[in-house]
Amino acid sequence: MKVVKSVAEWREVRKTLGVPIGFVPTMGALHPGHASLLERSVTECDITVLSIFLNPAQFDSPSDLDRYPARHERDLELARTLGVDWVIIPDYDEIYRDGYRFQVREREFSHELCGAHREGHFTGVLTVVLKLLNLVRPERAYFGEKDYQQYLLIRDMCDAFFLDVEIVPCTTIRECDGLAMSSRNEYLDEPGRDRAAKLHTLLNSKLDDDNVAAELAKVGFDVDYVVTRARRRFAAASLHCGRREVRLIDNVSLPEG
Ligand code: PAF
Repeated sequence: MKVVKSVAEWREVRKTLGVPIGFVPTMGALHPGHASLLERSVTECDITVLSIFLNPAQFDSPSDLDRYPARHERDLELARTLGVDWVIIPDYDEIYRDGYRFQVREREFSHELCGAHREGHFTGVLTVVLKLLNLVRPERAYFGEKDYQQYLLIRDMCDAFFLDVEIVPCTTIRECDGLAMSSRNEYLDEPGRDRAAKLHTLLNSKLDDDNVAAELAKVGFDVDYVVTRARRRFAAASLHCGRREVRLIDNVSLPEG
C-alpha cells in the first residue's frame, strides 16, 4: 500500500495507473462500515483508492469539526490489512486552492432532511466529492447507505455532470442492537449508547413518522426529523451526553403495503 500526501504527486501517480479503479472517499476515523466499502472495492476492482480528507466545508459547526476524531495511523493499518492499494491524504490548501470559490449547489433535495438542519452541508459534500472524483477518476465509487440522502445527491450530481463513474450504494453496517456504525458513535457515553439503538428500532416499527418522533423524544432524543419518502424512512436526532450533543442519523427501507 502506498500513501500520497500531495494532490500534485497523486496526479502524476494517476497517469501511471490502469483500470478499473474503485474509490472510497472518507474523512478518516475508519470503522467497520468503511471497512465494508473497502472490502467490496478490493473484491470488485483491480485497484482500490482510499482518500482521507476531513472536509471543513461540510461542517456547519466549528466545534463539530474540531472534535471529529483523527487517527491516521490506525486508519492506515486497517487499510493495509484490507488490501487497499493507494491512500490519498491531501491537505486543505491543495483541495481548496480556489478558496472554495467554486461550489456545487443542488437546489432541491439538498435543502430537505439533513439539509434543512445543516446549512451548506451538502454543498460542501458535493463540492469535495466532485473534486475527489476528478482527481481519482475511478470506475466505481462506494458510499454507505447510512448517509442515504448523501448517496442520492452524489449519484444525481454524477449523472447531471456526465461523470463516467458508477456510484455504488452499500448496506449500512450495524452494531448487534441495530445502531448504525458511525465515527460519531464514540462520542456517546454509556447511557447515551444504550438509548441510541432506539433510533433504529423505532424507525423499523409500525408506528407512523409522528409517533416515531414522539417515542424518540420520550427516551431523550432531540428530534430534527422523521420523514418517509419513496418507501424509505429517514431520521436525524440528537442525544445529550454530558455536555455534548451527539447527532445520529439513520434510515430504513420500508416493506411494501
Ligand atoms: O461520508 C463522508 O464521510 C463524507 O461526507 C465524504 C463523502 C467523504 C465527503 O467528505
